[in-house]
Amino acid sequence: MTRKRPELSKSGNSKVTANGGSGVGTSTLHQITSNTWRAPKDETIPTGKEGEIIRYGRELIVHTSKYLGPKGTIAKITNGMNCQNCHLDAGTRPYGNNFSGFITAYPKMSRRAGKIESPAERLVECFERSLNGKAPDTSGREIRSILAYMRWVGKDGKHGVNLIGASTEKLPYLKFAADTAKGNAVYSLKCQNCHGQNGEGVLSHDGTSYTYPPLWGNHSYNDGAGMYRLGNLAGFVKNNMPLGATYQNPQLTNEEAWDVAAFIESKPRAHQNQHSDWKDLNKKPIDFPFGPYPDSFSEKQHKYGPFAPIKAAHNGRSMSSVTNLQK
Ligand code: HEC
Ligand code: HEC
Repeated sequence: MTRKRPELSKSGNSKVTANGGSGVGTSTLHQITSNTWRAPKDETIPTGKEGEIIRYGRELIVHTSKYLGPKGTIAKITNGMNCQNCHLDAGTRPYGNNFSGFITAYPKMSRRAGKIESPAERLVECFERSLNGKAPDTSGREIRSILAYMRWVGKDGKHGVNLIGASTEKLPYLKFAADTAKGNAVYSLKCQNCHGQNGEGVLSHDGTSYTYPPLWGNHSYNDGAGMYRLGNLAGFVKNNMPLGATYQNPQLTNEEAWDVAAFIESKPRAHQNQHSDWKDLNKKPIDFPFGPYPDSFSEKQHKYGPFAPIKAAHNGRSMSSVTNLQK
């Protein structure tokens, strides 16, 4: 296949890089509008006991490892990362993997688990996968407090209404597979300084949490985590990394974000047994990197793309199949 791809932008803090009409998703600057999600103001946290619980829930999101990490003061059940490492500003940042739509959507049919899940069960999944840890006691004070915080932070959400800036951005697909070699180049130039040559991150002086969290290896999220899907990682990185980038001032092109995400996902990490996940193969996201699939595309293509042909095949199938029409 012949194709022309733009070269990596060399400047670390370049604004959106124009990409010469090569078929790469163009980068548009996002403006704050009245439909943009904003987290509630701190003043709206109630006083008294109710407010204390909310604040403690937030504290656990921000400093998870201090309480629940390898040196945790309450329990030692997680890998040393903080929820906030991925849910930026305690899950309040537009396109920073925020919690805007979480609480109003649950209980919810989990497409992965194939059953109705409570909000607490959803939290457990991030403990076991994103924090490569153990399930916390869902009736304990910690989970109750995190849920109280989730109710507060998502209180202005409306079920079924997806405000601008919710969770992470879904970047347009590239026309070709994401390129791990090009991603390696982006990584060396724009990520390695903080996240380390081997993606190992940098621990804080007292060793209780990360100053720069790990991106792969045994201390990072495992291969059952949401971040292990290329689309989730690319969307997160595009609007938030390198540190200082925002959705209004991203520093990578979409293509660089896909490529560096591919490079990160090509590296080793802990394995999660996922045999009971995705019992209905039609519900599997197309960028889920482990088969079996309801189509004939390879695991490699499901991991790195190109995704458009897979999407088209799935759409074609659901159009021709009466039972799938309503999905
Ligand atoms: C390695 C990054 C990472 C870490 C660390 C992490 N998460 Fe997540 N979390 C994600 C991603 C990515 C998603 C979206 C997953 C998807 O859509 O498949 C997510 C989704 C969620 C959701 C569902 C949001 C919604 O709107 O449906 C909740 C709730 C959540 N995480 C809570 C937590 C909590 C609590 C912690 C800490 C105990 C945590 N996460 C740690 C990456 C992370
Ligand atoms: C200046 C330092 C810095 C640079 C450069 C940087 N990051 Fe980060 N990164 C951070 C910090 C700090 C966090 C955690 C943010 C928090 O906890 O609030 C983070 C979090 C992350 C996370 C989510 C947590 C995890 O460990 O999985 C990913 C993914 C990530 N960075 C990818 C990248 C990529 C890709 C690049 C290069 C394009 C990059 N970062 C460049 C500092 C940096």
